[in-house]
Amino acid sequence: MLPANLRHEMMLANNEPMPERSRLREHTIAPALLRWYDMHARDLPWRVGPADRARGERADPYRVWLSEIMLQQTTVAAVRAYFLRFTKRWPTITALAAADDADVMAEWAGLGYYARARNLLKCARVVASRNGLFPDTEDALRELPGIGPYTAAAIAAIAFDKPAGVMDGNVERVMARVFAVRSPLPGAKAELRALVEAATPVSRPGDYAQAVMDLGATICTPRSPACGICPVMDGCAARAEGIATELPKKAPKAAKPTRFGIAYIARRADGALLLETRPPRGLLGGMLGWPGTDWAETLPSDAPPCEADWHPLGTEVRHTFTHFQLRLAVEVADVPDCARADRGVFYDASDFRPANLPTVMRKAYNLAVTGWARD
Ligand code: ADE
Repeated sequence: MLPANLRHEMMLANNEPMPERSRLREHTIAPALLRWYDMHARDLPWRVGPADRARGERADPYRVWLSEIMLQQTTVAAVRAYFLRFTKRWPTITALAAADDADVMAEWAGLGYYARARNLLKCARVVASRNGLFPDTEDALRELPGIGPYTAAAIAAIAFDKPAGVMDGNVERVMARVFAVRSPLPGAKAELRALVEAATPVSRPGDYAQAVMDLGATICTPRSPACGICPVMDGCAARAEGIATELPKKAPKAAKPTRFGIAYIARRADGALLLETRPPRGLLGGMLGWPGTDWAETLPSDAPPCEADWHPLGTEVRHTFTHFQLRLAVEVADVPDCARADRGVFYDASDFRPANLPTVMRKAYNLAVTGWARD
């Protein structure tokens, strides 16, 4: 017997009917979910709620795109304030396209995954050069910088009401439970994708996509799903079998390797701080940061950016990136006003905002401030 995910793929490829279980639910979950969404949709700053949509209001593709890029790998709670600041400062795609790169990177600081911000600007400039209009098909959206399959489907569904199968982590969990998919992620993705496609309705696909996301975020939560108040409880196979909390199953993850590095924080007597803009590509590319060593599997040798009496702080910054854990030692030095550095630029205290630093660099700064306060 083929594994379930391959069976689904082959059935789809051969145009064979979906298994009975899926066909049944395809017709049952959307109506109940949409009725629930009509009453309980979350009020989100980028969202046109179901009542306004029913009155004919359309979502602004710029706001949908911006929110979806921000929401990749990040929670709604973390994104809200960033989204409001961005749209106040750059209310249209043309305004964003005309922004200075450094201003956009500074506004993005703290949201993480900085390649997203660089691609955001690239994409804004491409779209602005085409009269500020986003394309409305998944295929054309995917050709834009920073727009992958998930984001293309989300924009097509939410901004243009196309029946695109939108699958993020919340949606995977909901589908794994409704259809009691027992094979572990990430291997189960193809099977889940087939189920997402089959379950997406032709009517109100944009509201439906957001309804599944809301269900996953508020009721069908990872650890303690509120099955007793779930609008699709009657159609949920995992609930019927009493296994909702066990799904989705996940293949064990390999432990992340550790990398080590040193960050150098030089402070002049007038309060100016030595910072550098990181190279445009790579981790934290284009962001401001403290000069430092490479981050390597063994502690690299000292590489301070200027001659000074460097003092290691007793503690280190720990930060988790997608592919490794970082242990970053921090050294500080007080340098004379005439100090010259091999790397970086001194920023006057009045121009320096810790909020413009990526989180790992802000953590290093906070350690330095604590160290200075002790001295
Ligand atoms: N997560 C990702 N996209 C979302 C959206 N449009 N609404 C709510 N949660 C989301």
